[in-house]
Amino acid sequence: MRYYAVSGSAARQRTDCAIVGLYESGTLTGAATQLDAALGGRIARFVKRGDARGKAGEVTLIDAERGPCERVLLVGLGKKDGFGRKQYKKALLAAAAALAKTGARDAVSYLATEPLPETDAYYRARLAAESVGSALYRIPAIRSTRKPSAPALRSFGVAVPEKDQKMDAERGLEHGRGIAAGAALTRDLANLPANVCTPSYLAQQARELARQHASLKAQILDEAALRRLKMGALLSVTAGTDEPAKLIVLRHQGGPAGQAPVVLVGKGVTFDSGGISLKQPPGMDEMKFDMTGAASVFGALKAAAEIGLPANVIGLVPACENMPSGRATKPGDIVHSMSGQTIEVINTDAEGRLILCDALTYARRFKPAVVVDVATLTGACVIALGAHTSAVMSNDDDLAAEIEAAGRRAEDRAWHMPMAEEYHDQLKSNFADFTNSCGREGGAITAACFLAKFTDGLRWAHLDIAGTAYLTGAQKGSTGRPVPLLMDFLIHRR
Ligand code: BES
Ligand code: MN
Ligand code: ZN
Repeated sequence: MRYYAVSGSAARQRTDCAIVGLYESGTLTGAATQLDAALGGRIARFVKRGDARGKAGEVTLIDAERGPCERVLLVGLGKKDGFGRKQYKKALLAAAAALAKTGARDAVSYLATEPLPETDAYYRARLAAESVGSALYRIPAIRSTRKPSAPALRSFGVAVPEKDQKMDAERGLEHGRGIAAGAALTRDLANLPANVCTPSYLAQQARELARQHASLKAQILDEAALRRLKMGALLSVTAGTDEPAKLIVLRHQGGPAGQAPVVLVGKGVTFDSGGISLKQPPGMDEMKFDMTGAASVFGALKAAAEIGLPANVIGLVPACENMPSGRATKPGDIVHSMSGQTIEVINTDAEGRLILCDALTYARRFKPAVVVDVATLTGACVIALGAHTSAVMSNDDDLAAEIEAAGRRAEDRAWHMPMAEEYHDQLKSNFADFTNSCGREGGAITAACFLAKFTDGLRWAHLDIAGTAYLTGAQKGSTGRPVPLLMDFLIHRR
């Protein structure tokens, strides 16, 4: 997809499809009014007849017959005074989905010429490219029949009100395109079945990324290396499977050599059966998504490479399966983490924290400015925040606030949850330094408290994406989250 910025009147811009907005009150946006005049009142007639009502996300395709464009896509923006980032993104997603069903090869959106609080030309353009990329994503389904035909759309323009905003918009489009490409990689990897997407497959993908992008370098540690590093916690999770575990290091060198990196740690459990603490069958297929943290770290690294992010970022992915077998770790087993701390494994289904804790210890060697781990870590997080908001916990309130702000700007939201000393008491053990699991109360928080025990002296945040990483039901599939949040965080730090 080619993205470009334009300025000037919608009445003069040639395109296969002009995308203009309609508010719920029946008020046409400025661009819609200009275009309406050029089309002899055709758009207003649609509205008057009641064929378009302006409800957020509603789309009406109008044949322009003659005029600067072949079609008009009239998009509902909801209430005028409530129009913000969320409504803007929703409108773009709906417009792009509708556009994909047409034969239009080119489209120009005028939605960014409306007043949109707390955004500038850069953000409006970036959100546009991100949203279009996201709406045009297709799952590479493994079917015996022929694939449905791909959308015809080849180029997408974003109109800005003033000519001098074009450069900012172009930068936004470039970033949005990169973020969408990263999110698409995340979705592709997460959507793959666990019999394809194994730890070895993830390692291979990291090598492939490094081959494709000059700024990326991959390094794979095998189980022998993990044993030498004394990663007893990680190794205890992989004990029950025949698939070899990997620790994958993927570096983006975009800043000066001496600059402290941001380390992104991604949970890469390619299938979580629960192990000996076996899960119930309903929904167990969704545990192929338990490597979405890893996939989002790869997605962020790819996006960083694509946009030439001027910073050093290291992706660190502990990858393994969690399976039951005669060699599997048993409830009550005590394991030695790389940090030296011992852990009583009460529940083998609380495996994410076991692989992450050794990865967090390993992250120290990079002398990171910040460490952020990303994980589908707890069912409790899904109960607490549902499918719309990721949880962020941190040993640094400013860092948590930075991540929340990135989530708001990227429209990929996260909410700061507490992590007080009291919660730590729940992890007490009579047999080891602490346990890996405790009651259901505050489960997302106690999981973060467990990780916090491995982050002394680090500036660290944890993102629990169990609810936001993928959709269930008829729309089952990876969302590509939290790649937009991570990228906004990285871009904004500069
Ligand atoms: N991968 C799961 C968490 C999860 C659950 C992600 C549902 C997405 C949807 C994790 O490994 C897990 O099993 N967590 C347990 C922890 C418990 C045993 C302390 C959970 O949430 O039940
Ligand atoms: Mn589990
Ligand atoms: Zn898991």
